[in-house]
Formats: sequence, structure tokens, C-alpha cells
Amino acid sequence: MTSDEGLIYVIFGASGDLTKRKLVPALYSLFIQRLLPEKFALLGVSRSAISNEEFREGMKSAILEFKEIDDASGIGEFAQKLYYHPIQFDEVSTYQALKEQIETLRADLQIGGKTIYYLSTPPSLYGIIPQHLAAVGLQNQADGWKRLIIEKPFGYDLESALKLKDQLLKDWAEEQLFRIDHYLGKETVQNLLVTRFSNGMFEPLWNRNYVHHVEITSAESLGVEKRGGYYESSGALRDMVQNHLLQVVALTAMEPPSSVEPSAIRNEILKVLQSLRPIRREEVQHISIRGQYLSSTIKGKTIPGYREEEGVAPGSFTETFAALKFYIDNWRWGGVPFYIRTGKRLPTRVTEVVIHFKPTPHFLFSGDRSHQSHNQLVIRIQPDEGILLKFGMKTPGAGFEVQNVNMDFHYNELSHQRVPSAYERLIFDSIKGDATLFARTEEVMESWKFLTPVLEAWKNEHEVPLFGYPAGTWGPHEADDLIEDKMMTWRYPCKNLSDDGIFCEL
Ligand code: BG6
Repeated sequence: MTSDEGLIYVIFGASGDLTKRKLVPALYSLFIQRLLPEKFALLGVSRSAISNEEFREGMKSAILEFKEIDDASGIGEFAQKLYYHPIQFDEVSTYQALKEQIETLRADLQIGGKTIYYLSTPPSLYGIIPQHLAAVGLQNQADGWKRLIIEKPFGYDLESALKLKDQLLKDWAEEQLFRIDHYLGKETVQNLLVTRFSNGMFEPLWNRNYVHHVEITSAESLGVEKRGGYYESSGALRDMVQNHLLQVVALTAMEPPSSVEPSAIRNEILKVLQSLRPIRREEVQHISIRGQYLSSTIKGKTIPGYREEEGVAPGSFTETFAALKFYIDNWRWGGVPFYIRTGKRLPTRVTEVVIHFKPTPHFLFSGDRSHQSHNQLVIRIQPDEGILLKFGMKTPGAGFEVQNVNMDFHYNELSHQRVPSAYERLIFDSIKGDATLFARTEEVMESWKFLTPVLEAWKNEHEVPLFGYPAGTWGPHEADDLIEDKMMTWRYPCKNLSDDGIFCEL
């Protein structure tokens, strides 16, 4: 055996929901595609006192329930590679026993030193676990690399993020840290780069000379479900904007990287985040809208309001909808407004980037003469991933009436090849050591820094109003007022909930 043979994959928080729903099904999918090293062991670590057998049974059911791939033939063999070890996360002494367990596995299975530690635990443990691992030498790379994967949220605000950064970088090197932002693992988020930089026709127009404004929406039809407890300390701004949406903004706005090397791409992402125009505290109420969903009745079914959800305080001021207007101060984007919005219990689940091109300088024809430009490029990230180009065409018949038409491409027409889930892709990349799609420390700090004035203003219950919106609508209608050009609105990919379905059709 050489020291770099095989891999031990340690999941902290092995009895949690993410492990069952995403991590183990994704690892199984990699296993069945022969993308895991031949010598492989998955060690689940958690507080519960369960046996290897119980862990294996639980994970087998999870793989079947949250199916990642249509091939169950290897479940038995895969389950034999799973082990379990109970731990008290905050007790440094128990990490010595964990170390011994890892060493035993290595010796028994002839696996070398390469190890991944995945923290799928409450964020309050992100400082403690890596510190205790280091205390017993489990971060030491002398016998093979050691990587630490951390789920978001990376901190609660700038101050706590800086503290976490210092804690982590005390014992771990930046190259060992892989911060998961699962949006970056989405095939169509990566496709933003390919759409932009493999087509000569878009890039010349992708700037302040031709773009009127950029709009990014990430809507969810679900409410907070069982995560009220977590969400109460988060809210839409921390949960979606600080990470996922600002990453999408960065990929939409970045300059062409010099290569597809991780550092080249991540440098360009960072430059965008560094160029976000700082928000002044006194302008927060004019450039941000927050909302919270209210109960509503849809097709005779009562949908509870946020304050009635499990784990939510009856007088909660946590936002479930957030919209922002901001600018990127650089040569490409100077003066172009960016609008982003996200919310729970909106009419449908959709994430899209819309590039609104400037209207023609003079309008010759009759027909739809609103100030809306005829040209929009809609990049649909999910669902029904694809690209839609809208433009004006002559309405058949006499005269010169103009109507809007669509050129529509659906990603699933490209191939029948299976598209890996975001987690599968990111887990695979972390095993290969490709950090392109993981957030770097500076990116995280820049996005917290940018949002700090908004977070502070929103802390105060009266400074910026919290608008209620009935579940199943597109959030507070006040969000429309953010759009600078009064002849324009957000793009509504479908109307509010209709009578014939819980969700509107895209
Ligand atoms: C998670 C948030 O990061 O992303 C959730 O914590 C949110 O609140 C989810 O629902 C959305 O992800 P997706 O992939 O369904 O768009």
C-alpha cells in the first residue's frame, strides 16, 4: 500500500437530513459510476449511539428513497463500505477515539492517508470540529491530503465570518478548505460561463453600452417546511442572497478568465464582489425590500403564514422575501442597475437571470410601444433549464405591427446524458481537488461586507418595513418600486397562483 491509495470520507452530522437526502445518495451514485477510489470507506460521525449495521440500513433506505441514479444494483456492496462512530462534537477527548477508529479502518482496509471531513452539522460547530481534529493531528497531511468541506452558512455576519475564518486558518491551509455553495454545482450555473465565453455574439453586447439592467430571481414555492428553527436565525438575505445569488451575480458579471483554472475563475469572481458599490446605510430603505409570507387559501387548502410555521416566533420579523437593487462599479457595468429577488411561498420554483437589453433609440413601428425592450435574454437555471431570447417581429398582415417572439432552447434537448446533481458534482470535484466551484475565503468576506448595511438596517424593526405577502404571490408589490425605469417591471415567468393548481405553470 502507498500512502496515497484510497480515501476515507468522514461525514460529521451523519444522522442529519442532508446526509440522507444528498450526501450519501451522491456518493453512491459516484460509486456506481466507478468514480470513487477502489479502496474507499465512508465513516459517519454523529452524536447518536448506533451500530455500523444500523447506519448501513438507514443509508440503504436513504439511497432508495432519495434516488440519485437509476441503478440500485450496487447498494449492498456500497453499504459494506459504510461505518459509524459516535462522538461528542465539543469534547476534544473523543477525537482521540475517532483518530483510532480512522487508523483501524486504514489498517484493515489498506487505505492510505487521504481523508475528507464533511461538516454537515449546525454552523455553531464549524469552528470547534476543525480545531479538535487538528488537536489530535487529523489535519496533518504528511501521509496524504486532508480536506475539510463546510456547508453554508459561513458565519452569521461579517464579524462572525471573520472569526470563523481566523479559527479555521489557524490549523488548516486555505487549499484544504472547500466551502460548498450548492448553486455553483448546478450544471446550468456553470453553463453561464459557457454561454458567455463560447459565443462571440453575446460578449460584445454584455456591458453598459447595450444592457439596460440585469435581473436575477430565485423563487421557491415551498415555505420553510421543518426548518423554522434554522430559518429564524437566518432569513432570506443570509440564506440565499449572501451566498447563492451573489455567486450567480458574479458569474453573470465577471470578466473572461485567462483560463479555466480554479484560481483564474475565482479571481474574476472575487473582482466582481470587490466592485459591488458599497450600500450606504441611509439608502437601505430605498434599495431593499423585505417581506414575509402570510397565510392564504389556495383551492380550498389553507397555507399557513410564516409566523404559524413550526419553530417560528409568533411575532417574528424574519424575512422570507428579499429584493435588492445595486450597482457594480467597474468599466463594464458602470451605471447598470442589478436587481435580485428571492422568496419562499412564491407562485412557482424558478431561478433565472434576465439580461434586459436597451430599447432601440427610436421606435419606428406601431404595436406594443411600451418602454420594455423587445430584447431580453433569459437564462433559466432551474427548472426546465435553458435559454430564451426575446425579440420583436413583424405581425403578419398589413402595416408594421411589432410583436414579441421567443427563441427557446431547452437544456434537456442537448443530450440524454444524465446530469449529475449539484452535490454529486461538488463531492466529485472535492475528491479530485478541483476547487473552482467552491467559495474562497475572500469571496465570503466580500459578500458579508456588502450586505452588512442592509443586515444592520433590517435588524431594526421600524427603519425598513417588513411587508406581508399572501403565500402564492410574487412577494410584496412594493418590490416593483425598486425598478428604476417606471415603465418596466420584474419579469413574471408565470402569474400568481391560479384556481386550477397549487403552482402556476411556467
Ligand atoms: C439552500 C437554502 O441553501 O438552498 C434553502 O438554505 C433553499 O432555504 C435552497 O430552499 C434552495 O436550493 P435549490 O437548489 O432548491 O434552489
